[in-house]
Amino acid sequence: MGAYQIIGGRPLEGAVQIHGAKNSVLPVLAATIVGGGEYTIHNCPEISDVDTALDILRVLGCTAERDGARVCVDTSAAENREIPEELMKKMRAAILFLGALLARFGTATISAPGGCVLGERPINLHLLGLRLMGADYEYDRETLRCRASTLRGCTVALPFPSVGATENLILAALACEGEVTICNAAKEPEIADLIGFLRACGAKIAGTGTSVLQIVGGAALHGTEYGVMPDRMEAATYLAAAAATRGRLVLQGANPAHLQAVIEILERGGCEIAQQQDEIIVRCDRLRAVSPIVTAPYDGFPTDAQAPVMAAMATAEGVSVFEETIFSDRFRHVPALRAMGARIYATERHAVVTGVRRLHGASVEATDLRGGAAMVIAALSAEGESRITKTEHMERGYASFAQALRSCGAQIESI
Ligand code: UD1
Repeated sequence: MGAYQIIGGRPLEGAVQIHGAKNSVLPVLAATIVGGGEYTIHNCPEISDVDTALDILRVLGCTAERDGARVCVDTSAAENREIPEELMKKMRAAILFLGALLARFGTATISAPGGCVLGERPINLHLLGLRLMGADYEYDRETLRCRASTLRGCTVALPFPSVGATENLILAALACEGEVTICNAAKEPEIADLIGFLRACGAKIAGTGTSVLQIVGGAALHGTEYGVMPDRMEAATYLAAAAATRGRLVLQGANPAHLQAVIEILERGGCEIAQQQDEIIVRCDRLRAVSPIVTAPYDGFPTDAQAPVMAAMATAEGVSVFEETIFSDRFRHVPALRAMGARIYATERHAVVTGVRRLHGASVEATDLRGGAAMVIAALSAEGESRITKTEHMERGYASFAQALRSCGAQIESI
């Protein structure tokens, strides 16, 4: 079990390089299964979720090699259609192999996916769409067996714009006879990135960036080379860290267009943020509370930025109210922030944060990926020493986290 030892109280100052987006590369790696071929993916972050995706590809019979930020995959020889439970349990995005395997082989066997515990994370919307395409499924205890002799074109109206369901349905739709229309599709930039990759492979998909996607099934897909977009959640985390420590950071390789909701909140709080095409410069001398901060599907305020920004607001002047509308249990970081002296009152969906002048160090345990990042941010702004255990949560999504923070003046050690 890993831990970070942090001595806080110093403003972060310097430059960080934003890596490729976790939430893009995982669907892209699942998508390589659909057509079979050789793929080179650039800008892959060195995080454990990518290692898990590569392990899944190997179990399915593919070759997968990593060389720094470049991953080479050959899915031509894939033959297995079953993902073992221990790999499914490692991350939520393993569910995306369901649509990919169905498209390639017409059958897939998986178990319930793992990932961060954020409340209930059902897959009913994924299954609703797959059933409309003609797939049948059955549960045998924890195992889900899905099969379709043919997948057919249809219109799927999602009751909620689920990111994962949209991605899974795009992948399955690639093998449909006819056209699939997904209404109320998620509009997160990572969906557009997946579509960009699939188009480079020869797929015919219209509606990128909108809530209505049209996928023409049956196009011949081939291998390709593709670079994934920068990670907007990693960038949001560093923006929040700069605000929390009253620091100054240059985020190199970040795309500000994807971060408007977060930038707007921090600017309202008093941060000065300069946006260039692939760089964001943030400076914070004084932070005021902002209210309300309501999470919403893109282009609203992202649920993944809620915990990091809450850590910053813990020392803002005034009262911030957060409303979490996406997940039912996404305030699991609150007890740790309170242990560091934050004044937060939370119900299931709301958190009222009364800013204090200073947090103090504490020993806490990371609860999930973004919640753990929030604890690191709080510890960086706190007086004294903190110890944050279970850093494997952060390793799932942040490449060289401690190292990047250290290069900006943070006193943080991985132990
Ligand atoms: C993805 C992101 C995650 C982000 C989330 C919301 C990846 C790998 N993860 O997760 O970082 O926090 O989007 O932006 O891209 N739901 C259902 N039924 C379903 C599917 C989802 O009820 O079949 C509900 C979920 O329980 C949740 C909400 O819809 O309350 C949002 O989930 P979804 O958009 O699917 O998130 P993920 O794809 O799991």
